[in-house]
Amino acid sequence: MKSLRTLLIAACIGPALALTSRQTTSQTAFVDLNTTLGKPEHLASGWIYGIPDNFPNQIPSSWYTDVGFRWGKGGGAQLGSTGQRGWVVSLDDYKGRFASTLANYKTCRALGADFHIYVHDLWGTDHAGGKNGKWPGDGGDFSDYDKFVRQLMADVAANMDLRYVTWDIWNEPDIQPYFWVRSAQQWVDLYVRTHKAIRSNRALDAMKISGPAIGFAPGPSNSFWTTWLPQAVGNNTIPDFYTLHLLGGINDVTYDPAYTNTSLASLLKKYNAPARQVFVNEYAAAEEMVPSGYIWWIARLERYGMFGMLANWLGGTQLHDLFGGLLTKEKNPAAYAATDYAPAAGYPVYRYYGTNMTGQRANTTGSADRWLDVYATVGADRVRMLAGVRVHTGTYSIVVRGLGAVGYASGAVVGVDAYSFDGASTKAVVGMVGTSRGKTSYSVVNDAITIVVHQTANHTGWAFEFDVKR
Ligand SMILES: *[C@@H]1O[C@H](CO)[C@@H](O)[C@H](O)[C@H]1NC(C)=O
Ligand SMILES: *[C@@H]1O[C@H](CO)[C@@H](O)[C@H](O)[C@H]1NC(C)=O
Ligand SMILES: *[C@@H]1O[C@H](CO)[C@@H](O)[C@H](O)[C@H]1NC(C)=O
Ligand SMILES: *[C@@H]1O[C@H](CO)[C@@H](O)[C@H](O)[C@H]1NC(C)=O
Ligand SMILES: *[C@@H]1O[C@H](CO)[C@@H](O)[C@H](O)[C@H]1NC(C)=O
Ligand SMILES: *[C@@H]1O[C@H](CO)[C@@H](O)[C@H](O)[C@H]1NC(C)=O
Repeated sequence: MKSLRTLLIAACIGPALALTSRQTTSQTAFVDLNTTLGKPEHLASGWIYGIPDNFPNQIPSSWYTDVGFRWGKGGGAQLGSTGQRGWVVSLDDYKGRFASTLANYKTCRALGADFHIYVHDLWGTDHAGGKNGKWPGDGGDFSDYDKFVRQLMADVAANMDLRYVTWDIWNEPDIQPYFWVRSAQQWVDLYVRTHKAIRSNRALDAMKISGPAIGFAPGPSNSFWTTWLPQAVGNNTIPDFYTLHLLGGINDVTYDPAYTNTSLASLLKKYNAPARQVFVNEYAAAEEMVPSGYIWWIARLERYGMFGMLANWLGGTQLHDLFGGLLTKEKNPAAYAATDYAPAAGYPVYRYYGTNMTGQRANTTGSADRWLDVYATVGADRVRMLAGVRVHTGTYSIVVRGLGAVGYASGAVVGVDAYSFDGASTKAVVGMVGTSRGKTSYSVVNDAITIVVHQTANHTGWAFEFDVKR
Protein backbone atom coordinates (compact mmCIF):
# COMPACT_ATOMS: atom_id res chain seq x y z
CA MET A 1 0.00 0.00 0.00
CA LYS A 2 2.10 2.81 -1.33
CA SER A 3 -0.02 5.65 0.00
CA LEU A 4 0.34 4.58 3.61
CA ARG A 5 4.10 4.16 3.26
CA THR A 6 4.43 7.57 1.62
CA LEU A 7 2.47 9.12 4.42
CA LEU A 8 4.50 7.52 7.17
CA ILE A 9 7.92 8.30 5.78
CA ALA A 10 7.24 11.71 4.28
CA ALA A 11 9.71 14.07 5.87
CA CYS A 12 8.49 17.45 6.96
CA ILE A 13 10.46 20.53 7.84
CA GLY A 14 8.68 22.92 10.17
CA PRO A 15 7.11 22.53 13.57
CA ALA A 16 3.45 22.50 12.57
CA LEU A 17 3.86 19.48 10.40
CA ALA A 18 4.55 16.50 12.60
CA LEU A 19 1.94 13.83 12.08
CA THR A 20 -0.25 13.64 15.11
CA SER A 21 -1.47 10.52 16.79
CA ARG A 22 -5.10 11.46 16.07
CA GLN A 23 -4.49 11.32 12.36
CA THR A 24 -5.12 8.14 10.42
CA THR A 25 -4.97 7.19 6.77
CA SER A 26 -8.75 7.44 6.64
CA GLN A 27 -8.17 11.18 7.12
CA THR A 28 -5.82 11.49 4.16
CA ALA A 29 -6.59 12.79 0.69
CA PHE A 30 -4.33 12.43 -2.34
CA VAL A 31 -3.33 14.65 -5.25
CA ASP A 32 -1.56 13.01 -8.19
CA LEU A 33 0.33 15.67 -10.11
CA ASN A 34 1.39 13.29 -12.84
CA THR A 35 -2.18 12.36 -13.79
CA THR A 36 -3.90 15.32 -15.41
CA LEU A 37 -7.50 15.32 -16.56
CA GLY A 38 -7.83 18.24 -18.98
CA LYS A 39 -8.59 21.91 -18.56
CA PRO A 40 -10.71 23.29 -15.70
CA GLU A 41 -14.38 23.27 -16.70
CA HIS A 42 -15.80 24.85 -13.52
CA LEU A 43 -18.48 22.21 -13.28
CA ALA A 44 -19.67 23.58 -9.92
CA SER A 45 -19.85 27.27 -10.96
CA GLY A 46 -23.55 27.89 -11.10
CA TRP A 47 -26.42 28.62 -8.76
CA ILE A 48 -30.19 28.60 -8.87
CA TYR A 49 -32.00 31.96 -8.97
CA GLY A 50 -29.72 34.60 -7.38
CA ILE A 51 -29.83 36.96 -10.37
CA PRO A 52 -31.83 40.21 -10.37
CA ASP A 53 -34.89 40.37 -12.60
CA ASN A 54 -33.65 43.14 -14.84
CA PHE A 55 -31.49 43.23 -17.93
CA PRO A 56 -28.93 44.64 -18.26
CA ASN A 57 -28.22 43.43 -14.81
CA GLN A 58 -27.32 45.59 -11.83
CA ILE A 59 -24.51 43.23 -10.75
CA PRO A 60 -21.29 44.10 -12.63
CA SER A 61 -20.28 41.25 -14.90
CA SER A 62 -16.90 40.66 -13.25
CA TRP A 63 -18.72 39.26 -10.21
CA TYR A 64 -20.01 36.50 -12.50
CA THR A 65 -17.02 35.95 -14.76
CA ASP A 66 -14.47 35.81 -11.91
CA VAL A 67 -16.15 32.68 -10.54
CA GLY A 68 -16.24 31.01 -13.95
CA PHE A 69 -20.05 31.24 -14.10
CA ARG A 70 -21.32 28.32 -16.22
CA TRP A 71 -25.06 27.93 -15.58
CA GLY A 72 -28.00 29.73 -14.09
CA LYS A 73 -31.62 28.83 -13.48
CA GLY A 74 -34.80 30.79 -12.97
CA GLY A 75 -38.57 30.87 -13.36
CA GLY A 76 -39.83 33.72 -11.18
CA ALA A 77 -40.17 31.84 -7.88
CA GLN A 78 -41.77 33.64 -4.94
CA LEU A 79 -42.80 36.70 -6.95
CA GLY A 80 -46.09 37.57 -5.30
CA SER A 81 -47.47 40.73 -6.85
CA THR A 82 -50.50 40.79 -9.09
CA GLY A 83 -49.28 39.91 -12.55
CA GLN A 84 -46.36 37.78 -11.25
CA ARG A 85 -47.94 34.71 -9.65
CA GLY A 86 -47.80 32.20 -12.47
CA TRP A 87 -50.10 30.48 -14.97
CA VAL A 88 -52.22 28.88 -12.26
CA VAL A 89 -53.48 32.37 -11.36
CA SER A 90 -53.82 33.94 -14.82
CA LEU A 91 -52.19 34.39 -18.20
CA ASP A 92 -50.98 37.84 -17.10
CA ASP A 93 -49.42 36.32 -13.99
CA TYR A 94 -47.65 33.83 -16.22
CA LYS A 95 -46.35 36.70 -18.32
CA GLY A 96 -44.85 38.39 -15.26
CA ARG A 97 -42.96 35.24 -14.36
CA PHE A 98 -41.85 34.76 -17.95
CA ALA A 99 -40.44 38.31 -17.88
CA SER A 100 -38.34 37.39 -14.81
CA THR A 101 -37.23 34.16 -16.51
CA LEU A 102 -36.29 35.97 -19.70
CA ALA A 103 -34.30 38.66 -17.85
CA ASN A 104 -32.32 35.92 -16.06
CA TYR A 105 -31.81 34.10 -19.36
CA LYS A 106 -30.44 37.26 -20.97
CA THR A 107 -28.02 37.82 -18.10
CA CYS A 108 -26.76 34.25 -18.34
CA ARG A 109 -26.32 34.42 -22.10
CA ALA A 110 -24.55 37.79 -21.96
CA LEU A 111 -22.01 36.11 -19.67
CA GLY A 112 -21.70 32.93 -21.73
CA ALA A 113 -23.58 30.76 -19.23
CA ASP A 114 -26.29 28.24 -20.07
CA PHE A 115 -29.78 28.77 -18.73
CA HIS A 116 -32.19 26.28 -17.17
CA ILE A 117 -35.90 26.93 -16.79
CA TYR A 118 -37.76 26.20 -13.57
CA VAL A 119 -41.01 25.38 -15.32
CA HIS A 120 -42.97 24.69 -12.13
CA ASP A 121 -42.37 28.35 -11.16
CA LEU A 122 -43.88 29.62 -14.40
CA TRP A 123 -46.84 27.41 -13.74
CA GLY A 124 -46.92 28.84 -10.17
CA THR A 125 -46.78 26.02 -7.61
CA ASP A 126 -46.45 28.61 -4.82
CA HIS A 127 -49.88 30.00 -5.76
CA ALA A 128 -51.59 26.71 -6.57
CA GLY A 129 -53.47 26.54 -3.27
CA GLY A 130 -51.89 23.39 -1.84
CA LYS A 131 -53.83 20.18 -1.43
CA ASN A 132 -57.22 21.72 -2.13
CA GLY A 133 -55.92 23.70 -5.06
CA LYS A 134 -55.54 23.04 -8.75
CA TRP A 135 -52.78 20.79 -10.08
CA PRO A 136 -51.98 19.52 -13.59
CA GLY A 137 -53.85 16.31 -14.34
CA ASP A 138 -56.42 16.52 -11.55
CA GLY A 139 -59.31 14.23 -12.41
CA GLY A 140 -57.29 13.04 -15.40
CA ASP A 141 -57.59 16.46 -17.05
CA PHE A 142 -54.35 17.91 -18.40
CA SER A 143 -55.99 20.32 -20.86
CA ASP A 144 -55.07 23.53 -18.99
CA TYR A 145 -51.53 22.28 -18.34
CA ASP A 146 -51.15 21.38 -22.03
CA LYS A 147 -52.19 24.91 -22.92
CA PHE A 148 -49.53 26.22 -20.52
CA VAL A 149 -46.88 24.01 -22.13
CA ARG A 150 -47.87 25.24 -25.62
CA GLN A 151 -47.65 28.87 -24.46
CA LEU A 152 -44.24 28.37 -22.84
CA MET A 153 -42.90 26.41 -25.82
CA ALA A 154 -43.89 29.29 -28.12
CA ASP A 155 -42.38 31.95 -25.84
CA VAL A 156 -39.17 30.05 -25.35
CA ALA A 157 -38.78 29.39 -29.08
CA ALA A 158 -39.46 33.04 -29.91
CA ASN A 159 -37.12 34.56 -27.33
CA MET A 160 -34.24 32.23 -26.53
CA ASP A 161 -31.28 30.65 -28.28
CA LEU A 162 -32.26 27.09 -27.54
CA ARG A 163 -28.77 25.66 -27.85
CA TYR A 164 -28.09 27.10 -24.41
CA VAL A 165 -31.43 26.35 -22.78
CA THR A 166 -32.66 23.40 -20.70
CA TRP A 167 -36.32 22.82 -19.81
CA ASP A 168 -36.47 21.18 -16.35
CA ILE A 169 -39.83 19.42 -16.55
CA TRP A 170 -40.94 19.67 -12.92
CA ASN A 171 -39.07 20.52 -9.73
CA GLU A 172 -39.10 18.25 -6.66
CA PRO A 173 -42.37 16.38 -7.09
CA ASP A 174 -41.54 14.56 -3.85
CA ILE A 175 -41.14 17.69 -1.72
CA GLN A 176 -44.75 17.97 -0.74
CA PRO A 177 -46.82 20.06 -0.23
CA TYR A 178 -44.54 22.71 -1.76
CA PHE A 179 -43.89 21.64 -5.32
CA TRP A 180 -46.41 18.85 -5.85
CA VAL A 181 -49.34 17.58 -3.77
CA ARG A 182 -50.50 14.67 -5.87
CA SER A 183 -49.37 11.11 -6.51
CA ALA A 184 -46.05 10.14 -8.03
CA GLN A 185 -47.99 8.62 -10.94
CA GLN A 186 -49.81 11.87 -11.74
CA TRP A 187 -46.43 13.60 -11.89
CA VAL A 188 -44.98 10.83 -14.10
CA ASP A 189 -47.95 11.28 -16.44
CA LEU A 190 -47.10 15.00 -16.56
CA TYR A 191 -43.44 14.22 -17.20
CA VAL A 192 -44.10 11.80 -20.05
CA ARG A 193 -46.63 14.02 -21.86
CA THR A 194 -44.38 17.10 -21.51
CA HIS A 195 -41.35 15.30 -22.90
CA LYS A 196 -43.44 14.04 -25.82
CA ALA A 197 -44.93 17.49 -26.48
CA ILE A 198 -41.49 19.10 -26.57
CA ARG A 199 -39.90 16.43 -28.73
CA SER A 200 -42.74 16.51 -31.22
CA ASN A 201 -42.20 20.26 -31.63
CA ARG A 202 -39.39 20.58 -34.18
CA ALA A 203 -38.85 24.25 -33.29
CA LEU A 204 -37.40 23.02 -29.97
CA ASP A 205 -35.00 20.41 -31.30
CA ALA A 206 -31.95 22.31 -30.06
CA MET A 207 -33.27 22.64 -26.50
CA LYS A 208 -32.30 20.16 -23.81
CA ILE A 209 -34.77 18.54 -21.43
CA SER A 210 -33.89 17.64 -17.86
CA GLY A 211 -35.50 15.58 -15.13
CA PRO A 212 -36.58 14.08 -12.82
CA ALA A 213 -35.26 16.74 -10.34
CA ILE A 214 -36.47 14.61 -7.44
CA GLY A 215 -35.61 16.18 -4.06
CA PHE A 216 -34.52 13.07 -2.15
CA ALA A 217 -31.37 11.26 -3.26
CA PRO A 218 -31.63 8.51 -5.88
CA GLY A 219 -31.58 4.96 -4.57
CA PRO A 220 -33.39 1.64 -4.73
CA SER A 221 -35.97 2.69 -2.11
CA ASN A 222 -36.80 6.11 -3.53
CA SER A 223 -40.29 5.42 -4.90
CA PHE A 224 -40.33 8.57 -7.03
CA TRP A 225 -37.24 7.34 -8.86
CA THR A 226 -38.52 3.76 -9.16
CA THR A 227 -41.92 4.96 -10.42
CA TRP A 228 -40.46 7.45 -12.90
CA LEU A 229 -37.51 5.63 -14.41
CA PRO A 230 -39.17 2.53 -15.91
CA GLN A 231 -41.94 4.63 -17.45
CA ALA A 232 -39.48 7.17 -18.84
CA VAL A 233 -37.62 4.23 -20.41
CA GLY A 234 -40.83 2.59 -21.61
CA ASN A 235 -42.03 5.79 -23.29
CA ASN A 236 -38.65 6.66 -24.77
CA THR A 237 -38.69 9.92 -22.80
CA ILE A 238 -35.32 9.81 -21.05
CA PRO A 239 -34.11 13.40 -20.47
CA ASP A 240 -30.87 14.87 -21.83
CA PHE A 241 -29.66 15.47 -18.26
CA TYR A 242 -30.51 13.36 -15.26
CA THR A 243 -31.17 16.04 -12.64
CA LEU A 244 -30.98 15.36 -8.94
CA HIS A 245 -30.75 17.35 -5.74
CA LEU A 246 -28.23 16.71 -2.97
CA LEU A 247 -29.45 18.78 -0.05
CA GLY A 248 -29.69 16.30 2.80
CA GLY A 249 -26.75 17.62 4.82
CA ILE A 250 -23.53 16.22 6.17
CA ASN A 251 -24.74 13.30 8.26
CA ASP A 252 -26.56 11.28 5.61
CA VAL A 253 -24.16 9.41 3.38
CA THR A 254 -26.65 9.28 0.49
CA TYR A 255 -26.23 13.04 -0.08
CA ASP A 256 -22.74 12.57 -1.45
CA PRO A 257 -21.81 12.31 -5.16
CA ALA A 258 -19.61 9.34 -4.22
CA TYR A 259 -22.75 7.51 -3.13
CA THR A 260 -25.13 8.80 -5.79
CA ASN A 261 -22.67 7.98 -8.57
CA THR A 262 -23.09 4.35 -7.60
CA SER A 263 -26.76 4.38 -6.58
CA LEU A 264 -27.82 6.09 -9.80
CA ALA A 265 -25.75 3.70 -11.90
CA SER A 266 -27.45 0.72 -10.28
CA LEU A 267 -30.92 2.22 -10.81
CA LEU A 268 -30.13 2.83 -14.48
CA LYS A 269 -28.88 -0.73 -14.82
CA LYS A 270 -31.93 -2.19 -13.11
CA TYR A 271 -34.34 -0.40 -15.47
CA ASN A 272 -32.13 -0.69 -18.52
CA ALA A 273 -31.93 3.09 -18.82
CA PRO A 274 -29.24 4.83 -20.88
CA ALA A 275 -26.43 6.89 -19.34
CA ARG A 276 -26.78 10.67 -19.46
CA GLN A 277 -24.82 13.60 -18.09
CA VAL A 278 -25.75 14.01 -14.42
CA PHE A 279 -26.69 17.50 -13.34
CA VAL A 280 -26.96 18.13 -9.60
CA ASN A 281 -29.15 21.13 -10.15
CA GLU A 282 -29.32 21.95 -6.45
CA TYR A 283 -26.33 21.08 -4.28
CA ALA A 284 -25.40 21.82 -0.63
CA ALA A 285 -27.61 22.14 2.45
CA ALA A 286 -27.82 25.51 4.23
CA GLU A 287 -25.33 24.34 6.89
CA GLU A 288 -22.81 23.66 4.11
CA MET A 289 -22.80 27.26 2.86
CA VAL A 290 -19.36 27.90 4.38
CA PRO A 291 -15.91 27.64 2.74
CA SER A 292 -15.20 24.08 3.91
CA GLY A 293 -18.56 22.95 2.55
CA TYR A 294 -18.31 24.80 -0.76
CA ILE A 295 -14.85 23.36 -1.42
CA TRP A 296 -15.90 19.82 -0.56
CA TRP A 297 -18.77 20.12 -3.07
CA ILE A 298 -16.53 21.57 -5.78
CA ALA A 299 -14.05 18.73 -5.35
CA ARG A 300 -16.77 16.06 -5.26
CA LEU A 301 -18.68 17.29 -8.32
CA GLU A 302 -15.44 17.65 -10.28
CA ARG A 303 -14.32 14.12 -9.40
CA TYR A 304 -17.57 12.50 -10.51
CA GLY A 305 -17.91 14.71 -13.59
CA MET A 306 -21.28 15.99 -12.38
CA PHE A 307 -22.49 19.43 -13.41
CA GLY A 308 -23.67 21.42 -10.41
CA MET A 309 -25.76 24.40 -9.40
CA LEU A 310 -25.50 25.66 -5.85
CA ALA A 311 -28.75 25.59 -3.92
CA ASN A 312 -30.26 28.84 -2.72
CA TRP A 313 -31.61 29.10 0.81
CA LEU A 314 -32.45 32.80 0.68
CA GLY A 315 -35.99 34.11 0.33
CA GLY A 316 -37.92 37.08 -1.03
CA THR A 317 -35.91 39.58 -3.06
CA GLN A 318 -32.66 38.04 -1.81
CA LEU A 319 -33.61 34.88 -3.70
CA HIS A 320 -33.48 37.03 -6.85
CA ASP A 321 -30.11 38.64 -5.99
CA LEU A 322 -26.85 37.66 -4.21
CA PHE A 323 -25.84 34.48 -6.15
CA GLY A 324 -27.42 32.12 -3.64
CA GLY A 325 -25.47 33.72 -0.79
CA LEU A 326 -22.04 34.00 -2.40
CA LEU A 327 -22.61 37.75 -2.41
CA THR A 328 -23.80 40.13 0.25
CA LYS A 329 -23.99 43.94 0.43
CA GLU A 330 -21.87 46.41 2.38
CA LYS A 331 -24.89 47.90 4.12
CA ASN A 332 -27.95 45.70 3.82
CA PRO A 333 -28.21 42.55 1.68
CA ALA A 334 -32.01 42.80 1.87
CA ALA A 335 -32.00 46.14 0.00
CA TYR A 336 -32.77 44.74 -3.43
CA ALA A 337 -32.02 47.86 -5.47
CA ALA A 338 -28.74 48.64 -3.66
CA THR A 339 -25.61 47.94 -5.65
CA ASP A 340 -22.98 47.90 -2.89
CA TYR A 341 -22.21 44.23 -3.61
CA ALA A 342 -19.50 42.59 -1.53
CA PRO A 343 -18.10 39.07 -1.14
CA ALA A 344 -19.74 36.79 1.43
CA ALA A 345 -17.91 33.73 2.82
CA GLY A 346 -18.11 31.64 -0.34
CA TYR A 347 -17.24 34.23 -2.95
CA PRO A 348 -13.43 34.16 -2.53
CA VAL A 349 -13.56 30.36 -2.75
CA TYR A 350 -15.41 30.37 -6.08
CA ARG A 351 -13.26 33.25 -7.30
CA TYR A 352 -10.09 31.26 -6.56
CA TYR A 353 -11.66 28.25 -8.31
CA GLY A 354 -12.79 30.30 -11.31
CA THR A 355 -9.82 32.64 -11.72
CA ASN A 356 -6.65 31.37 -10.05
CA MET A 357 -6.87 27.66 -10.75
CA THR A 358 -5.51 27.48 -14.29
CA GLY A 359 -3.75 24.81 -16.32
CA GLN A 360 -4.74 21.17 -16.07
CA ARG A 361 -6.83 19.44 -13.43
CA ALA A 362 -4.91 16.86 -11.42
CA ASN A 363 -6.43 13.59 -10.32
CA THR A 364 -7.37 13.59 -6.65
CA THR A 365 -8.78 11.15 -4.12
CA GLY A 366 -10.89 12.26 -1.13
CA SER A 367 -10.21 10.96 2.35
CA ALA A 368 -11.66 7.52 3.05
CA ASP A 369 -13.68 8.90 5.99
CA ARG A 370 -15.42 11.16 3.39
CA TRP A 371 -14.86 14.45 5.26
CA LEU A 372 -11.90 15.91 3.32
CA ASP A 373 -11.82 16.46 -0.40
CA VAL A 374 -9.45 18.32 -2.68
CA TYR A 375 -9.59 19.93 -6.13
CA ALA A 376 -6.21 20.63 -7.73
CA THR A 377 -4.74 22.18 -10.85
CA VAL A 378 -1.25 22.17 -12.34
CA GLY A 379 -0.65 25.56 -13.99
CA ALA A 380 2.27 26.78 -16.02
CA ASP A 381 3.39 28.71 -12.93
CA ARG A 382 2.04 26.97 -9.83
CA VAL A 383 0.26 23.94 -8.45
CA ARG A 384 -2.95 25.04 -6.70
CA MET A 385 -5.23 23.09 -4.41
CA LEU A 386 -8.51 23.81 -2.73
CA ALA A 387 -9.08 21.61 0.32
CA GLY A 388 -12.33 21.37 2.27
CA VAL A 389 -13.17 19.36 5.37
CA ARG A 390 -16.96 19.23 5.03
CA VAL A 391 -18.14 21.36 7.97
CA HIS A 392 -16.14 19.19 10.30
CA THR A 393 -13.02 19.43 12.48
CA GLY A 394 -9.97 17.24 12.96
CA THR A 395 -6.43 16.74 11.76
CA TYR A 396 -6.31 15.83 8.09
CA SER A 397 -3.55 15.47 5.55
CA ILE A 398 -3.04 15.78 1.84
CA VAL A 399 -0.41 13.60 0.24
CA VAL A 400 0.74 15.32 -2.95
CA ARG A 401 2.31 12.70 -5.21
CA GLY A 402 4.10 12.84 -8.53
CA LEU A 403 6.27 15.86 -7.70
CA GLY A 404 8.74 14.78 -10.36
CA ALA A 405 6.14 15.79 -12.92
CA VAL A 406 6.42 19.43 -11.74
CA GLY A 407 10.21 19.47 -11.51
CA TYR A 408 11.05 18.38 -7.95
CA ALA A 409 13.61 15.64 -7.49
CA SER A 410 13.84 13.45 -4.41
CA GLY A 411 15.10 15.53 -1.47
CA ALA A 412 14.18 18.85 -3.08
CA VAL A 413 12.38 21.38 -0.90
CA VAL A 414 8.88 22.52 -1.81
CA GLY A 415 7.72 25.86 -0.38
CA VAL A 416 3.96 25.62 0.06
CA ASP A 417 1.92 28.82 0.56
CA ALA A 418 -1.25 28.36 2.58
CA TYR A 419 -4.37 30.53 2.49
CA SER A 420 -7.47 30.18 4.58
CA PHE A 421 -11.02 31.18 3.71
CA ASP A 422 -12.44 32.28 7.04
CA GLY A 423 -15.94 33.57 6.46
CA ALA A 424 -18.75 31.71 8.19
CA SER A 425 -21.90 33.39 6.90
CA THR A 426 -23.76 34.32 3.75
CA LYS A 427 -24.41 37.81 5.15
CA ALA A 428 -21.11 39.15 6.54
CA VAL A 429 -18.63 40.85 4.21
CA VAL A 430 -15.22 39.16 3.84
CA GLY A 431 -12.09 39.97 1.83
CA MET A 432 -11.92 39.19 -1.87
CA VAL A 433 -9.05 36.72 -1.41
CA GLY A 434 -8.10 34.15 1.21
CA THR A 435 -5.94 35.07 4.21
CA SER A 436 -2.26 34.22 3.85
CA ARG A 437 -1.22 31.64 6.44
CA GLY A 438 2.46 31.69 5.50
CA LYS A 439 4.83 29.40 3.67
CA THR A 440 5.93 25.98 4.89
CA SER A 441 8.79 23.94 3.49
CA TYR A 442 8.52 20.21 2.85
CA SER A 443 11.17 17.95 1.45
CA VAL A 444 10.27 15.46 -1.23
CA VAL A 445 10.41 11.80 -0.22
CA ASN A 446 9.31 9.09 -2.63
CA ASP A 447 8.10 11.73 -5.10
CA ALA A 448 5.63 13.07 -2.50
CA ILE A 449 5.04 15.59 0.27
CA THR A 450 2.39 15.53 2.99
CA ILE A 451 0.54 18.72 3.90
CA VAL A 452 -1.20 18.63 7.26
CA VAL A 453 -4.53 20.44 7.64
CA HIS A 454 -5.37 21.44 11.19
CA GLN A 455 -9.10 21.96 10.89
CA THR A 456 -9.99 23.59 14.21
CA ALA A 457 -13.06 25.55 13.03
CA ASN A 458 -15.52 23.55 10.96
CA HIS A 459 -16.18 26.35 8.42
CA THR A 460 -12.59 27.11 7.36
CA GLY A 461 -11.58 26.29 3.80
CA TRP A 462 -8.02 26.07 2.52
CA ALA A 463 -5.90 26.77 -0.54
CA PHE A 464 -2.33 25.53 -0.93
CA GLU A 465 0.05 26.61 -3.71
CA PHE A 466 3.62 26.05 -4.77
CA ASP A 467 5.78 26.82 -7.77
CA VAL A 468 6.11 24.53 -10.75
CA LYS A 469 9.82 24.15 -11.58
CA ARG A 470 10.34 23.59 -15.27
C1 LIG B 1 -45.74 5.43 -20.56
O1 LIG B 1 -46.13 6.37 -19.60
C2 LIG B 1 -47.44 6.17 -19.08
C3 LIG B 1 -47.66 7.26 -18.06
O2 LIG B 1 -47.98 8.46 -18.68
C4 LIG B 1 -47.58 4.83 -18.43
O3 LIG B 1 -48.93 4.62 -18.03
C5 LIG B 1 -47.16 3.75 -19.38
O4 LIG B 1 -47.14 2.53 -18.70
C6 LIG B 1 -45.79 4.04 -19.93
N1 LIG B 1 -45.43 3.07 -20.93
C7 LIG B 1 -44.47 2.21 -20.77
C8 LIG B 1 -44.25 1.25 -21.89
O5 LIG B 1 -43.75 2.20 -19.78
C1 LIG C 1 -19.10 6.73 -11.40
O1 LIG C 1 -19.89 5.66 -11.83
C2 LIG C 1 -19.58 5.21 -13.11
C3 LIG C 1 -20.64 4.23 -13.53
O2 LIG C 1 -20.76 3.21 -12.59
C4 LIG C 1 -18.20 4.60 -13.08
O3 LIG C 1 -17.83 4.13 -14.36
C5 LIG C 1 -17.22 5.69 -12.64
O4 LIG C 1 -15.93 5.14 -12.49
C6 LIG C 1 -17.64 6.31 -11.35
N1 LIG C 1 -16.79 7.46 -11.11
C7 LIG C 1 -15.91 7.51 -10.15
C8 LIG C 1 -15.03 8.73 -10.11
O5 LIG C 1 -15.82 6.64 -9.31
C1 LIG D 1 -7.52 8.81 -10.23
O1 LIG D 1 -7.41 8.28 -8.92
C2 LIG D 1 -8.32 7.24 -8.66
C3 LIG D 1 -8.24 6.89 -7.20
O2 LIG D 1 -6.93 6.71 -6.80
C4 LIG D 1 -8.01 6.08 -9.57
O3 LIG D 1 -8.91 5.03 -9.32
C5 LIG D 1 -8.14 6.54 -10.99
O4 LIG D 1 -7.75 5.49 -11.86
C6 LIG D 1 -7.24 7.72 -11.25
N1 LIG D 1 -7.50 8.26 -12.58
C7 LIG D 1 -6.60 8.30 -13.52
C8 LIG D 1 -7.01 8.91 -14.80
O5 LIG D 1 -5.47 7.86 -13.35
C1 LIG E 1 3.41 9.08 -11.12
O1 LIG E 1 4.11 9.21 -9.91
C2 LIG E 1 4.22 8.02 -9.16
C3 LIG E 1 4.94 8.36 -7.88
O2 LIG E 1 4.22 9.28 -7.16
C4 LIG E 1 4.98 7.00 -9.98
O3 LIG E 1 5.01 5.80 -9.26
C5 LIG E 1 4.28 6.78 -11.29
O4 LIG E 1 5.03 5.91 -12.08
C6 LIG E 1 4.10 8.10 -12.02
N1 LIG E 1 3.31 7.87 -13.21
C7 LIG E 1 3.54 8.49 -14.36
C8 LIG E 1 2.59 8.20 -15.46
O5 LIG E 1 4.48 9.25 -14.53
C1 LIG F 1 -5.62 34.82 -7.01
O1 LIG F 1 -5.76 35.74 -8.07
C2 LIG F 1 -5.98 37.09 -7.68
C3 LIG F 1 -6.02 37.95 -8.92
O2 LIG F 1 -6.88 37.47 -9.84
C4 LIG F 1 -4.85 37.59 -6.78
O3 LIG F 1 -5.18 38.86 -6.28
C5 LIG F 1 -4.64 36.63 -5.63
O4 LIG F 1 -3.51 37.03 -4.89
C6 LIG F 1 -4.42 35.21 -6.16
N1 LIG F 1 -4.11 34.26 -5.09
C7 LIG F 1 -4.91 33.98 -4.08
C8 LIG F 1 -4.39 33.01 -3.09
O5 LIG F 1 -6.04 34.40 -3.98
C1 LIG G 1 -19.81 24.22 13.23
O1 LIG G 1 -19.31 24.97 14.30
C2 LIG G 1 -20.22 25.93 14.83
C3 LIG G 1 -19.48 26.77 15.86
O2 LIG G 1 -18.81 25.96 16.76
C4 LIG G 1 -21.43 25.20 15.41
O3 LIG G 1 -22.36 26.14 15.89
C5 LIG G 1 -22.05 24.37 14.30
O4 LIG G 1 -23.11 23.62 14.84
C6 LIG G 1 -21.03 23.45 13.68
N1 LIG G 1 -21.64 22.80 12.50
C7 LIG G 1 -21.66 21.52 12.35
C8 LIG G 1 -22.35 21.02 11.13
O5 LIG G 1 -21.16 20.75 13.13
